[in-house]
Amino acid sequence: MRTAARVDRIEPFHVMEVGKAAARIAREVQDSDTPMLFLNIGEPDFTAPPLVREAAERAVATGRTQYTQALGLDSLRERISDWYARRFGLAVPARRIVVTAGASAALQLACLALVDRGDEILMPDPCYPCNRHFVSAAEGRPVLLPSTAAERFQLSADRLREHWGPASRGVLLASPSNPTGTSIHPDELRAIHGFVGERGGVTMVDEIYLGLSYDDTFGQSALALDDQVISINSFSKYFNMTGWRLGWMVVPDALVPVVEKLAQNLFICPSVIAQYAALACFEPESIAEYEQRRAEFKARRDWFIPALQEMGLDVPVMPDGAFYAWADCSAAMRRLGVDSSWDFAFELMKRAHVAVTPGRDFGTAETGHFVRFSTASAMAQLQQAAGRLKGLLA
Ligand SMILES: Cc1ncc(COP(=O)(O)O)c(C=O)c1O
Repeated sequence: MRTAARVDRIEPFHVMEVGKAAARIAREVQDSDTPMLFLNIGEPDFTAPPLVREAAERAVATGRTQYTQALGLDSLRERISDWYARRFGLAVPARRIVVTAGASAALQLACLALVDRGDEILMPDPCYPCNRHFVSAAEGRPVLLPSTAAERFQLSADRLREHWGPASRGVLLASPSNPTGTSIHPDELRAIHGFVGERGGVTMVDEIYLGLSYDDTFGQSALALDDQVISINSFSKYFNMTGWRLGWMVVPDALVPVVEKLAQNLFICPSVIAQYAALACFEPESIAEYEQRRAEFKARRDWFIPALQEMGLDVPVMPDGAFYAWADCSAAMRRLGVDSSWDFAFELMKRAHVAVTPGRDFGTAETGHFVRFSTASAMAQLQQAAGRLKGLLA
């Protein structure tokens, strides 16, 4: 069957192969002394807190399951607005908040609303793979700019100046980032947004890990800059609701009707059960639970990253958020006699029963010798994994 040309511009998610291999090996070793430890998974090991689950059950039991307006429940938009005020001291009016089916739908809506055929969207390498595919699906051209540890693996205004061209339309950043867990320094972000704004471009910032920040220098939303920034967020990570498929975006006033029109046509509305459940995320009891979990994620980071460093897996920039460690495995690769992070990841799986994500999906610059560890697993599992890796790499 003839398929649309745009599909060819979207690369397969290679890491799914790693996931499949991990699942296969996991089945083989499930009854052994060393069952598979999954440090390849980019989602919290926690589920939604009790009030959230109860709210979902209540919505179903009382039959509140009809479509909502495409922009989402007004009450939820208000709660999100209130969260920005309380947590970040930011005035983000509810009318600029659009509730979506996860950050994924928000990113699609942003790209469809703003990217024309041939428009270039600049982003750092490494970055979250789907971001460049959202741009491609909108018939734009993702331009990956290699970013260094000195730049916190993020875009810088200087690099942007070098690469901005006539077809450039804007930037798509993620702060904190997947796979690095590092954020853009606020001064750098201001410089980037200033540069992009002067050229009539758009600044899109994926802030899905913003709630999971561990360092006050970086824990501020890009929305603090001005009301032209497009911020994408989600209930998946900080709010521990990955499978509920709920997120949101904050857009400039002028973009609300544009995004609304697209959302009406493409999605009708986000899951209403998830929306009623999400209202309970902002209850003090739920926030207290989320903050406790955030402290746990930080404790995992603080323990695991020095453990990686000790065994020669260098993490060049300490992540300030999210639950990832982006580790240079060059030396460790040599020790195992392999010459790519892809093969290295398979060796770890086969020999230590520890699943990690090779760099390949996240870009092309240095990804051949980087792997991503997820620290979203329980501390006991991280400790076991570190013990096995140490044994293998000694
Ligand atoms: C940087 C980034 N953006 C977006 C997403 C998609 O998230 P959601 O579950 O909200 O669609 C992910 C998921 O891992 C991510 O890491």
